[in-house]
Amino acid sequence: MSFLEIRNVDKFYGAMQALAGVSLSIPKGSFVTLLGPSGSGKTTLLKILAGFEGVSGGEILHSGRDITDLKPEKRNFGLVFQGYALFPHMSVFDNVAYPLKVRRKTRDEIAARVAAILDLVHLGALSRRKPHELSGGQQQRVALARALVFEPDLLLLDEPMSALDKKLRVELQDQLRDIHHRLGTTFINVTHDQEEAMHMSDMIAVMNHGRIEQFDTAHRLYRRPNSRFVADFVGKSNIFDGVTQSRGAAAEFVADGFRLSLPREAKAVSEIVIRPEDIRIARADCAGGAAGDIRLEGTVAASTYSGDRALYSIALPGGRTLLTYGSAREGALEPGVPVAVAFDTKDCILLH
Ligand SMILES: Nc1ncnc2c1ncn2[C@@H]1O[C@H](COP(=O)(O)OP(=O)(O)O)[C@@H](O)[C@H]1O
Ligand SMILES: [Mg+2]
Repeated sequence: MSFLEIRNVDKFYGAMQALAGVSLSIPKGSFVTLLGPSGSGKTTLLKILAGFEGVSGGEILHSGRDITDLKPEKRNFGLVFQGYALFPHMSVFDNVAYPLKVRRKTRDEIAARVAAILDLVHLGALSRRKPHELSGGQQQRVALARALVFEPDLLLLDEPMSALDKKLRVELQDQLRDIHHRLGTTFINVTHDQEEAMHMSDMIAVMNHGRIEQFDTAHRLYRRPNSRFVADFVGKSNIFDGVTQSRGAAAEFVADGFRLSLPREAKAVSEIVIRPEDIRIARADCAGGAAGDIRLEGTVAASTYSGDRALYSIALPGGRTLLTYGSAREGALEPGVPVAVAFDTKDCILLH
Protein backbone atom coordinates (compact mmCIF):
# COMPACT_ATOMS: atom_id res chain seq x y z
CA MET A 1 0.00 0.00 0.00
CA SER A 2 1.47 3.33 -1.10
CA PHE A 3 1.30 6.51 0.92
CA LEU A 4 -1.08 8.02 -1.62
CA GLU A 5 -3.12 5.90 -4.04
CA ILE A 6 -5.05 7.51 -6.86
CA ARG A 7 -7.33 4.85 -8.28
CA ASN A 8 -9.01 5.11 -11.64
CA VAL A 9 -10.10 8.74 -11.19
CA ASP A 10 -12.43 10.30 -13.76
CA LYS A 11 -13.48 13.93 -13.78
CA PHE A 12 -16.16 15.51 -15.94
CA TYR A 13 -16.98 19.21 -16.12
CA GLY A 14 -20.39 18.87 -17.77
CA ALA A 15 -19.75 16.88 -20.95
CA MET A 16 -16.05 17.77 -20.93
CA GLN A 17 -13.83 14.97 -19.58
CA ALA A 18 -10.80 16.50 -17.82
CA LEU A 19 -9.46 13.24 -16.30
CA ALA A 20 -9.85 9.72 -17.68
CA GLY A 21 -8.92 6.69 -15.57
CA VAL A 22 -6.03 8.30 -13.71
CA SER A 23 -4.17 5.87 -11.42
CA LEU A 24 -0.96 6.67 -9.56
CA SER A 25 0.81 5.22 -6.52
CA ILE A 26 2.84 7.89 -4.78
CA PRO A 27 5.54 6.68 -2.38
CA LYS A 28 5.95 8.43 0.99
CA GLY A 29 8.66 11.09 0.98
CA SER A 30 8.95 11.23 -2.81
CA PHE A 31 9.07 14.30 -5.04
CA VAL A 32 6.57 13.62 -7.82
CA THR A 33 5.86 15.97 -10.72
CA LEU A 34 2.77 16.05 -12.91
CA LEU A 35 4.10 17.15 -16.29
CA GLY A 36 1.98 17.91 -19.32
CA PRO A 37 0.88 20.59 -21.76
CA SER A 38 -1.71 23.20 -20.90
CA GLY A 39 -5.17 21.64 -20.59
CA SER A 40 -3.90 18.10 -19.89
CA GLY A 41 -5.62 17.95 -16.46
CA LYS A 42 -2.75 18.70 -14.05
CA THR A 43 -4.52 21.38 -12.02
CA THR A 44 -7.73 19.34 -11.97
CA LEU A 45 -5.88 16.38 -10.46
CA LEU A 46 -4.17 18.62 -7.89
CA LYS A 47 -7.51 20.23 -6.92
CA ILE A 48 -9.00 16.78 -6.44
CA LEU A 49 -6.06 15.82 -4.20
CA ALA A 50 -6.53 19.05 -2.24
CA GLY A 51 -10.27 18.37 -1.91
CA PHE A 52 -11.40 21.49 -3.81
CA GLU A 53 -12.98 19.38 -6.54
CA GLY A 54 -14.87 16.12 -6.23
CA VAL A 55 -14.28 13.14 -8.53
CA SER A 56 -16.77 11.78 -11.08
CA GLY A 57 -15.42 8.28 -10.52
CA GLY A 58 -12.60 6.47 -8.75
CA GLU A 59 -11.06 7.03 -5.33
CA ILE A 60 -8.13 8.52 -3.43
CA LEU A 61 -6.54 6.64 -0.52
CA HIS A 62 -4.15 8.21 1.99
CA SER A 63 -2.22 5.60 4.00
CA GLY A 64 -4.99 3.15 3.23
CA ARG A 65 -7.82 5.48 4.26
CA ASP A 66 -10.40 6.62 1.69
CA ILE A 67 -10.20 10.44 1.54
CA THR A 68 -12.11 10.89 -1.73
CA ASP A 69 -14.88 12.91 -0.07
CA LEU A 70 -12.94 14.35 2.86
CA LYS A 71 -13.12 18.17 3.28
CA PRO A 72 -9.94 20.08 2.33
CA GLU A 73 -9.26 21.31 5.89
CA LYS A 74 -9.41 17.73 7.20
CA ARG A 75 -6.62 16.53 4.88
CA ASN A 76 -3.61 18.28 6.43
CA PHE A 77 -2.10 19.01 3.01
CA GLY A 78 -0.03 22.13 2.28
CA LEU A 79 -0.90 24.08 -0.87
CA VAL A 80 1.00 26.51 -3.08
CA PHE A 81 -1.43 27.29 -5.88
CA GLN A 82 -1.46 29.88 -8.62
CA GLY A 83 -3.60 32.76 -7.42
CA TYR A 84 -3.61 31.39 -3.86
CA ALA A 85 -2.09 34.66 -2.78
CA LEU A 86 -0.51 35.93 0.42
CA PHE A 87 -2.59 38.12 2.72
CA PRO A 88 -1.47 41.59 1.54
CA HIS A 89 -2.08 43.47 4.79
CA MET A 90 -0.18 40.95 6.95
CA SER A 91 3.58 40.78 7.54
CA VAL A 92 5.64 37.82 6.36
CA PHE A 93 5.61 36.51 9.94
CA ASP A 94 1.82 36.76 10.26
CA ASN A 95 1.24 35.18 6.86
CA VAL A 96 3.34 32.18 7.84
CA ALA A 97 1.89 32.07 11.38
CA TYR A 98 -1.68 31.98 10.05
CA PRO A 99 -2.09 28.18 9.64
CA LEU A 100 -0.71 27.69 13.16
CA LYS A 101 -3.17 30.24 14.62
CA VAL A 102 -6.02 28.42 12.89
CA ARG A 103 -4.75 25.25 14.56
CA ARG A 104 -4.69 27.06 17.94
CA LYS A 105 -0.99 26.60 18.65
CA THR A 106 0.54 28.53 21.56
CA ARG A 107 2.28 31.86 21.03
CA ASP A 108 5.69 30.34 21.86
CA GLU A 109 5.23 27.39 19.56
CA ILE A 110 4.13 29.71 16.76
CA ALA A 111 7.18 31.96 17.23
CA ALA A 112 9.56 28.99 17.21
CA ARG A 113 8.03 27.21 14.22
CA VAL A 114 7.71 30.34 12.08
CA ALA A 115 11.32 31.30 12.80
CA ALA A 116 12.53 27.81 11.86
CA ILE A 117 10.61 27.63 8.59
CA LEU A 118 11.58 31.19 7.56
CA ASP A 119 15.21 30.19 8.10
CA LEU A 120 14.68 27.16 5.90
CA VAL A 121 13.44 29.35 3.02
CA HIS A 122 16.14 31.98 3.72
CA LEU A 123 13.70 34.72 4.74
CA GLY A 124 14.57 35.02 8.42
CA ALA A 125 15.70 38.62 8.01
CA LEU A 126 12.52 39.79 6.25
CA SER A 127 9.84 38.63 8.67
CA ARG A 128 8.49 42.16 9.37
CA ARG A 129 8.00 43.04 5.68
CA LYS A 130 4.67 43.13 3.90
CA PRO A 131 4.22 41.07 0.70
CA HIS A 132 4.41 44.17 -1.57
CA GLU A 133 7.90 44.86 -0.15
CA LEU A 134 9.15 41.52 -1.49
CA SER A 135 10.29 40.31 -4.92
CA GLY A 136 8.24 37.67 -6.77
CA GLY A 137 10.68 34.93 -5.77
CA GLN A 138 10.58 35.99 -2.12
CA GLN A 139 6.77 36.03 -2.14
CA GLN A 140 6.77 32.47 -3.47
CA ARG A 141 9.09 31.43 -0.66
CA VAL A 142 6.70 32.97 1.89
CA ALA A 143 3.85 31.00 0.29
CA LEU A 144 6.01 27.88 0.55
CA ALA A 145 6.80 28.57 4.21
CA ARG A 146 3.09 29.09 4.94
CA ALA A 147 2.28 25.76 3.27
CA LEU A 148 4.96 23.87 5.21
CA VAL A 149 4.85 25.47 8.67
CA PHE A 150 2.16 23.13 10.04
CA GLU A 151 4.08 20.01 8.94
CA PRO A 152 1.61 18.80 6.32
CA ASP A 153 1.51 15.14 5.26
CA LEU A 154 1.72 16.22 1.63
CA LEU A 155 2.69 19.43 -0.19
CA LEU A 156 0.83 20.27 -3.42
CA LEU A 157 2.44 22.84 -5.73
CA ASP A 158 0.71 24.16 -8.87
CA GLU A 159 3.26 25.80 -11.17
CA PRO A 160 4.71 27.85 -8.30
CA MET A 161 7.55 29.13 -10.45
CA SER A 162 5.81 29.87 -13.72
CA ALA A 163 5.68 33.65 -13.17
CA LEU A 164 9.39 33.97 -12.34
CA ASP A 165 12.22 34.65 -14.76
CA LYS A 166 14.51 31.80 -15.79
CA LYS A 167 17.38 32.49 -13.40
CA LEU A 168 15.12 32.84 -10.35
CA ARG A 169 13.18 29.76 -11.40
CA VAL A 170 16.33 27.64 -11.42
CA GLU A 171 17.35 29.06 -8.01
CA LEU A 172 13.96 28.27 -6.54
CA GLN A 173 14.05 24.77 -8.07
CA ASP A 174 17.33 24.11 -6.26
CA GLN A 175 15.92 25.48 -3.00
CA LEU A 176 12.77 23.42 -3.33
CA ARG A 177 14.78 20.27 -3.87
CA ASP A 178 16.94 21.11 -0.87
CA ILE A 179 13.86 21.76 1.31
CA HIS A 180 12.31 18.49 0.18
CA HIS A 181 15.51 16.68 1.06
CA ARG A 182 15.68 18.24 4.54
CA LEU A 183 12.02 17.79 5.49
CA GLY A 184 11.31 14.45 3.84
CA THR A 185 7.69 15.54 3.21
CA THR A 186 5.97 14.08 0.12
CA PHE A 187 5.80 16.76 -2.61
CA ILE A 188 3.56 16.76 -5.69
CA ASN A 189 4.54 19.53 -8.10
CA VAL A 190 2.78 20.56 -11.31
CA THR A 191 4.60 22.00 -14.29
CA HIS A 192 4.49 22.16 -18.08
CA ASP A 193 8.27 22.66 -18.15
CA GLN A 194 10.05 19.38 -18.80
CA GLU A 195 13.44 20.71 -17.72
CA GLU A 196 12.02 21.72 -14.36
CA ALA A 197 10.38 18.31 -13.99
CA MET A 198 13.59 16.43 -14.82
CA HIS A 199 15.69 18.64 -12.59
CA MET A 200 13.66 18.16 -9.42
CA SER A 201 11.65 14.96 -9.40
CA ASP A 202 12.13 11.41 -8.20
CA MET A 203 9.21 10.38 -10.42
CA ILE A 204 7.34 12.18 -13.20
CA ALA A 205 3.79 11.49 -14.35
CA VAL A 206 3.45 12.66 -17.96
CA MET A 207 -0.14 13.75 -18.63
CA ASN A 208 -1.90 14.18 -21.95
CA HIS A 209 -5.62 14.74 -22.55
CA GLY A 210 -6.55 13.79 -18.98
CA ARG A 211 -4.59 10.55 -18.97
CA ILE A 212 -1.28 9.46 -17.49
CA GLU A 213 0.92 8.52 -20.45
CA GLN A 214 3.80 7.26 -18.33
CA PHE A 215 4.86 7.40 -14.66
CA ASP A 216 8.57 6.90 -14.39
CA THR A 217 11.95 8.35 -13.42
CA ALA A 218 13.31 11.17 -15.57
CA HIS A 219 15.96 8.83 -16.92
CA ARG A 220 13.48 6.16 -18.00
CA LEU A 221 11.15 8.74 -19.54
CA TYR A 222 14.05 10.03 -21.58
CA ARG A 223 15.66 6.73 -22.56
CA ARG A 224 12.60 4.45 -22.51
CA PRO A 225 9.57 6.54 -23.49
CA ASN A 226 6.60 4.25 -24.07
CA SER A 227 4.80 6.51 -26.51
CA ARG A 228 5.43 9.04 -29.22
CA PHE A 229 3.89 11.72 -27.03
CA VAL A 230 6.39 11.13 -24.20
CA ALA A 231 9.35 10.88 -26.61
CA ASP A 232 8.34 14.18 -28.14
CA PHE A 233 7.39 16.03 -24.93
CA VAL A 234 10.36 15.01 -22.78
CA GLY A 235 13.60 16.29 -24.28
CA LYS A 236 14.49 16.84 -27.91
CA SER A 237 13.98 13.92 -30.26
CA ASN A 238 14.01 12.77 -33.85
CA ILE A 239 11.09 10.49 -34.61
CA PHE A 240 11.03 8.36 -37.77
CA ASP A 241 7.83 6.72 -38.93
CA GLY A 242 8.19 3.47 -40.79
CA VAL A 243 7.04 -0.11 -41.16
CA THR A 244 8.38 -3.41 -39.88
CA GLN A 245 9.15 -5.97 -42.58
CA SER A 246 10.15 -9.54 -41.86
CA ARG A 247 13.27 -10.83 -43.54
CA GLY A 248 13.51 -14.56 -43.05
CA ALA A 249 13.80 -15.11 -39.30
CA ALA A 250 14.81 -11.47 -38.67
CA ALA A 251 12.96 -8.19 -39.12
CA GLU A 252 13.80 -4.75 -40.43
CA PHE A 253 12.41 -1.31 -39.78
CA VAL A 254 12.03 0.55 -43.05
CA ALA A 255 11.90 4.33 -42.85
CA ASP A 256 12.18 6.99 -45.51
CA GLY A 257 15.89 6.96 -46.41
CA PHE A 258 17.23 4.05 -44.36
CA ARG A 259 16.67 0.54 -43.02
CA LEU A 260 17.43 -0.76 -39.54
CA SER A 261 17.82 -4.40 -38.46
CA LEU A 262 15.60 -5.05 -35.48
CA PRO A 263 16.57 -7.23 -32.55
CA ARG A 264 14.99 -10.70 -32.61
CA GLU A 265 12.58 -9.99 -29.78
CA ALA A 266 11.27 -6.74 -31.30
CA LYS A 267 7.55 -6.68 -32.05
CA ALA A 268 6.06 -4.63 -34.86
CA VAL A 269 7.83 -1.27 -34.59
CA SER A 270 5.90 1.77 -35.80
CA GLU A 271 8.40 4.51 -35.01
CA ILE A 272 11.97 4.85 -33.89
CA VAL A 273 13.29 7.69 -31.79
CA ILE A 274 16.86 8.88 -31.84
CA ARG A 275 18.07 11.57 -29.44
CA PRO A 276 20.14 14.43 -30.94
CA GLU A 277 23.17 13.65 -28.75
CA ASP A 278 23.31 10.12 -30.18
CA ILE A 279 23.82 11.42 -33.72
CA ARG A 280 27.29 12.28 -34.97
CA ILE A 281 27.85 14.92 -37.62
CA ALA A 282 30.78 15.72 -39.92
CA ARG A 283 31.28 17.95 -42.95
CA ALA A 284 30.75 15.90 -46.10
CA ASP A 285 34.25 16.86 -47.30
CA CYS A 286 35.87 15.73 -44.01
CA ALA A 287 38.11 12.69 -44.39
CA GLY A 288 36.84 9.99 -41.91
CA GLY A 289 33.27 11.43 -42.00
CA ALA A 290 30.69 10.41 -39.39
CA ALA A 291 30.77 6.75 -38.39
CA GLY A 292 27.78 4.65 -37.37
CA ASP A 293 25.44 1.79 -38.34
CA ILE A 294 23.21 4.20 -40.19
CA ARG A 295 24.67 6.99 -42.29
CA LEU A 296 22.71 9.73 -44.00
CA GLU A 297 23.66 12.75 -46.04
CA GLY A 298 22.12 16.17 -45.77
CA THR A 299 22.81 19.86 -45.48
CA VAL A 300 22.80 22.23 -42.53
CA ALA A 301 19.41 23.97 -42.48
CA ALA A 302 19.94 25.99 -39.29
CA SER A 303 22.26 26.14 -36.32
CA THR A 304 22.05 27.49 -32.79
CA TYR A 305 25.42 28.25 -31.24
CA SER A 306 25.62 27.99 -27.43
CA GLY A 307 29.37 28.25 -26.78
CA ASP A 308 29.99 24.70 -25.62
CA ARG A 309 28.30 23.22 -28.67
CA ALA A 310 25.90 23.91 -31.52
CA LEU A 311 22.45 22.46 -32.12
CA TYR A 312 21.92 21.73 -35.80
CA SER A 313 18.85 21.17 -37.85
CA ILE A 314 19.93 19.04 -40.80
CA ALA A 315 17.82 18.87 -43.96
CA LEU A 316 17.70 15.31 -45.32
CA PRO A 317 16.77 14.33 -48.89
CA GLY A 318 13.01 13.75 -48.92
CA GLY A 319 12.30 16.90 -46.92
CA ARG A 320 12.54 15.96 -43.27
CA THR A 321 14.96 17.50 -40.82
CA LEU A 322 17.09 15.96 -38.09
CA LEU A 323 18.29 17.57 -34.84
CA THR A 324 21.82 16.90 -33.71
CA TYR A 325 24.55 18.48 -31.62
CA GLY A 326 28.04 19.18 -32.88
CA SER A 327 31.27 20.54 -31.51
CA ALA A 328 31.46 24.31 -31.90
CA ARG A 329 35.15 24.71 -31.20
CA GLU A 330 35.67 26.21 -34.69
CA GLY A 331 32.25 27.95 -34.62
CA ALA A 332 29.00 26.50 -35.90
CA LEU A 333 28.70 25.17 -39.46
CA GLU A 334 26.92 27.60 -41.77
CA PRO A 335 23.52 26.83 -43.32
CA GLY A 336 23.91 25.12 -46.68
CA VAL A 337 27.07 23.17 -45.76
CA PRO A 338 26.81 19.52 -46.92
CA VAL A 339 27.21 17.08 -44.01
CA ALA A 340 27.11 13.39 -43.15
CA VAL A 341 25.23 12.25 -40.04
CA ALA A 342 25.42 8.83 -38.44
CA PHE A 343 23.95 6.90 -35.53
CA ASP A 344 23.96 3.39 -34.11
CA THR A 345 21.19 0.81 -33.93
CA LYS A 346 21.79 0.35 -30.21
CA ASP A 347 20.87 4.02 -29.56
CA CYS A 348 17.53 3.81 -31.36
CA ILE A 349 14.46 3.74 -29.12
CA LEU A 350 11.75 1.49 -30.58
CA LEU A 351 8.07 2.41 -30.27
CA HIS A 352 5.38 -0.19 -30.87
N1 LIG B 1 -14.11 24.55 -13.78
C1 LIG B 1 -14.02 24.06 -15.03
N2 LIG B 1 -15.12 23.97 -15.83
C2 LIG B 1 -15.03 23.46 -17.07
N3 LIG B 1 -13.90 23.00 -17.63
C3 LIG B 1 -12.78 23.06 -16.89
C4 LIG B 1 -12.77 23.59 -15.56
N4 LIG B 1 -11.50 23.50 -15.08
C5 LIG B 1 -10.76 22.95 -16.06
N5 LIG B 1 -11.51 22.69 -17.14
C6 LIG B 1 -11.05 22.06 -18.39
O1 LIG B 1 -10.45 20.82 -18.06
C7 LIG B 1 -9.27 20.59 -18.82
C8 LIG B 1 -8.08 20.41 -17.91
O2 LIG B 1 -7.82 21.64 -17.27
P1 LIG B 1 -6.66 21.82 -16.21
O3 LIG B 1 -6.76 20.73 -15.20
O4 LIG B 1 -6.73 23.22 -15.69
O5 LIG B 1 -5.36 21.60 -17.10
P2 LIG B 1 -3.82 22.01 -16.86
O6 LIG B 1 -3.66 22.40 -15.42
O7 LIG B 1 -3.06 20.78 -17.24
O8 LIG B 1 -3.54 23.14 -17.80
C9 LIG B 1 -9.14 21.78 -19.77
O9 LIG B 1 -9.71 21.44 -21.00
C10 LIG B 1 -9.95 22.85 -19.07
O10 LIG B 1 -10.46 23.77 -20.00
MG1 LIG C 1 -2.94 24.21 -14.57
